[in-house]
Amino acid sequence: MVSGVLDIESETALAAPAAALAAVLRPGDTIALSGDLGAGKTTLARAMLRALGWAGDVPSPTYTLVQPYDLEAFPVWHVDLYRLEDPHEAEALGLFETEAALLIEWPERLGARLPADALRLHLAGSGDAPRHLTWTAPKAWEGRWPPLPPR
Ligand SMILES: Nc1ncnc2c1ncn2[C@@H]1O[C@H](COP(=O)(O)OP(=O)(O)OP(=O)(O)O)[C@@H](O)[C@H]1O
Ligand SMILES: [Mg+2]
Repeated sequence: MVSGVLDIESETALAAPAAALAAVLRPGDTIALSGDLGAGKTTLARAMLRALGWAGDVPSPTYTLVQPYDLEAFPVWHVDLYRLEDPHEAEALGLFETEAALLIEWPERLGARLPADALRLHLAGSGDAPRHLTWTAPKAWEGRWPPLPPR
């Protein structure tokens, strides 16, 4: 497990970490995006999908729960579990069977069903304030996240 922190001064500054994540994302991966209401989880997911080549809309999946994206390389599902009442409901959504990469907002709703090899990202801050991105990277993400510092 590796943990760390990154300051994100503005929404624009999300583009760099989003692109770094997009560059290493693989089918079957889970990225757990936690943080309070308005912390920027959807904004980060949107920036990742842009970096992955998606040119269309990226609506918040608050009501649909799962918004699939058929990207050229592999499918990505943007998931928002805010309205999930029980971890078992996630099975009906197909989250544990898909080969798509999962970007999951409100991953805490999954409780112990959150895959152990998920990359856990947490955004702190709200409103116009700068955000702090912290993470816990399991072994499955070794060499992928955190990105190597430029030299
Ligand atoms: N540094 C920043 N990073 C991300 N978002 C920022 C930043 N600064 C300001 N914002 C703004 O904060 C808001 C974040 O909204 P967003 O929908 O992404 O939050 P969320 O975490 O997905 O909320 P929810 O829990 O309701 O799904 C946006 O309006 C965005 O423009
Ligand atoms: Mg959101």
